[in-house]
Amino acid sequence: MARIIEEVSHTFSEYLLVPNLTKKDDIPSNVSLKTPLVKFKQGESPSITLNVPFLSAVMQSVSNDTLAVALARSGGLSFIYCSQPIEEQALMISKVKKYKAGFVVSDSNLKPDSLLVDVVNLKEKTGHSTIAITDDGTSSGKLIGIVTSRDYRVNKISLSTKVTDFMTPISSIIFGNEGITLTEANDLIWNHKENPNELLDKNKRLMVGAGINTKDYKERVPALIQAGADIFCIDSSDGFSEWQKEAIEYIKSNFGEHIKVGAGNVVGTDAFNYLADAGADFVKVGIGGGSICITREQKGIGRGQASAIIDVAEARDKYFKEKKVYIPICSDGGIVHDYHVTLALAMGADFVMMGRYFARFDESPTKKLKIGNNYVKEYWAEGSFRARNWQRYDLGGEGQKLSFEEGVDSYVPYAGKLKDNLGLTINKIKSTMCNCGCKTIEELHNNARLTLVSSTSIIEGGAHNVILKNREESNNT
Ligand code: IMP
Repeated sequence: MARIIEEVSHTFSEYLLVPNLTKKDDIPSNVSLKTPLVKFKQGESPSITLNVPFLSAVMQSVSNDTLAVALARSGGLSFIYCSQPIEEQALMISKVKKYKAGFVVSDSNLKPDSLLVDVVNLKEKTGHSTIAITDDGTSSGKLIGIVTSRDYRVNKISLSTKVTDFMTPISSIIFGNEGITLTEANDLIWNHKENPNELLDKNKRLMVGAGINTKDYKERVPALIQAGADIFCIDSSDGFSEWQKEAIEYIKSNFGEHIKVGAGNVVGTDAFNYLADAGADFVKVGIGGGSICITREQKGIGRGQASAIIDVAEARDKYFKEKKVYIPICSDGGIVHDYHVTLALAMGADFVMMGRYFARFDESPTKKLKIGNNYVKEYWAEGSFRARNWQRYDLGGEGQKLSFEEGVDSYVPYAGKLKDNLGLTINKIKSTMCNCGCKTIEELHNNARLTLVSSTSIIEGGAHNVILKNREESNNT
């Protein structure tokens, strides 16, 4: 008889975080969202660390070069979709690698007589940790110095300290190596200020990943390495397969151990261990939970995303304990609310991958349309007839076609710029981490406390038993 797994499959909305003690220094500006992207040995550091724990999905309607640039500038990473000819994917990769930021006008400036409290407030407002001190406090004023997060410790010096007492003065600012012009150096400094989290390679180029499949990797991977891809991710709806093991082994032995390859997707410990032993640099978790996904309806396979993450995180920790190698895991699909990201991280994910979330932004590749009074963007699944990404679903049979759909074609509400939305999401995550008394994702893994909620307490969680005012009424009071 088939084995019945005792535990019910749960998903994010069935859980809440229970606050821990918030220490005085548990404030959002002290929270770091840095997280390892690839595996590393105990005591060593990963060769790639994300500055924020976000990946954009390997999908035609999400991850092209424009979105990849915007996300890397905010500290995350895109995996450019592979359901396109090799040359076209390579071109997108090289566009990201060649992307050069132009001059940007600063919106975080203070005057020399400003105080530390002004720095803290401005940082809170703009999210920028580097602030220019100019003679008149404007972006066009004369540069006197800069304040970066390394210049002060909020708890160590008084909030009424003058910026001139702790800033890095212009005389100590290093503009660049020999040969760099002043204009270039200024561009670099100002650009870095605008995007302090930028995810850069050792040559200061934006980082970008590439999706690959288990069919044509022998040709696709070398072309994408040539184009500058920093990391690969095998894109498949079910990664617990010999095809994935073969692909990872081939890539590592033919192109070098230093070529990073993520694998997946999986929903259990056996599948995690299989891909870990095969050499995967990270493992992606999630089957059937994506917003556009109908895999569970079509095939009856999958698992509640929360249960899958919790289980796989346990396997990762056990693997680390026994083999002294930490293999990061990614929660892929089904993130609906910002707090779901925090839950996924608390449950053990090292980072999340999102499709619907990013499809809503200006930078995603799809059309923006007006339907009724609302603006929407198109968002279609890789397993829809529109994308026809048969390689993602093929299990080695007849192949070459998508015989039935595993995803839908849809619209998502248009939401504006990636940077603004991601900034808000990040603020919410950092604030929740402070509630949990955690300053790092590792601390959240170790210390978060979660509780399952009943269906009636879910009702309690929204506004209830009141008659809601609409916006107009609120404005008139
Ligand atoms: P979302 O963030 O909830 O929209 O989910 C995005 C994720 O859905 C992707 O990263 C994929 O793992 C998954 N996905 C994309 N296309 C399909 C499909 O056609 N069927 C099932 N899952 C899909």
